[in-house]
Amino acid sequence: MRCVLVSKSLDLRGYLGPQFLRDADRIEIVSHPLDGPATDIRLAVAWHPPDDAFERYPNLQAVCSIGAGVDNILACPSLRPDVDVIRVVDPAQAQMMSGFVAWHVIGHQRRFATYQAQQREEHWQRLGQRRAQDVAVGILGFGEIGRRVATDLALLGFPAMAWSRTPKAAPQGIRGFNGAPGLDAMLGQTEVLVNLLPLTPETRGILNRATFARMCRGGYLIQVGRGEHLVEADLLAALESGQLAGAALDVFANEPLAPRHPFWRHSRIVVTPHDACEVSVDAIGATFRATAEAIRAGRRPPHSIDRARGY
Ligand code: NAP
Ligand code: GLV
Repeated sequence: MRCVLVSKSLDLRGYLGPQFLRDADRIEIVSHPLDGPATDIRLAVAWHPPDDAFERYPNLQAVCSIGAGVDNILACPSLRPDVDVIRVVDPAQAQMMSGFVAWHVIGHQRRFATYQAQQREEHWQRLGQRRAQDVAVGILGFGEIGRRVATDLALLGFPAMAWSRTPKAAPQGIRGFNGAPGLDAMLGQTEVLVNLLPLTPETRGILNRATFARMCRGGYLIQVGRGEHLVEADLLAALESGQLAGAALDVFANEPLAPRHPFWRHSRIVVTPHDACEVSVDAIGATFRATAEAIRAGRRPPHSIDRARGY
């Protein structure tokens, strides 16, 4: 079998490294664009593929992402509707995300940003303490990563709530919500909002003025989903009005964030460069091998997303 690596933003061969290529048992790995014929390409590994990339591979059966999200692959106009798209499910990635989110939740609870500002001014002043149980956290997305984040926040003592499309059995200490009424109910009790949704037509722009207005006043946003979930002007307005006290942003509609973008120097925004958590190359390799095995056996690869649903 031959597999093609396709990306306009990453050197996938360098990113995956020699170990990945060695482990890709009985699979010849080539890089897009190919010089010669491409009719024997049945598998691709892709991240931000160029628009016309898949036109060249008429017998392509599956495309593996190198992350949990697949939105950048689904957005490729040349991807045929019958091609399976596979995402990586990596418990170690969920654990890294959980630490990242907990860091920001606790930062808000314990007012770390104010203490950093006080330090710059050599100003000694205790601000008073709030208990974790008084800071309710609402999580948009109750999937592989949202569930881990909610579980760990509950262990730290935060009232954890999580929202999904379909009803879910919530582990002890977590309150589950679903659908539009569930979102309303959750937001009304949310001080810290964590976005862990996939980007789909339904979720695009969900972090907007109406959403922020329904949260508790002085709330905090932790945006670790996708940049297009956020209406940027609505965030700036919510910070300006005091509806939100601050925001931690890891993902942006245009990455890297443009020079002089207002987020860079905003005193109540923390910017990180889409680095909340990455999947390990080992996990990508395992997904890739399972996909190749399924194709050989004529089965649907594990972790194929639902193309109609978009995640
Ligand atoms: P997942 O397992 O597919 O979970 C997605 C969750 O979102 C599910 O609970 C799903 O509900 C819910 N959902 C989807 N559409 C919805 C809608 N319209 N209304 C309500 N709930 C909806 O995904 P995951 O592995 O947890 O990853 C989530 C996302 O995190 C990724 O797609 C990516 O965008 C982002 N991410 C970011 C980073 C980073 O470094 N910043 C790293 C990894 C992932 P159901 O359970 O009912 O289907
Ligand atoms: C990172 O953003 C991922 O989707 O894994």
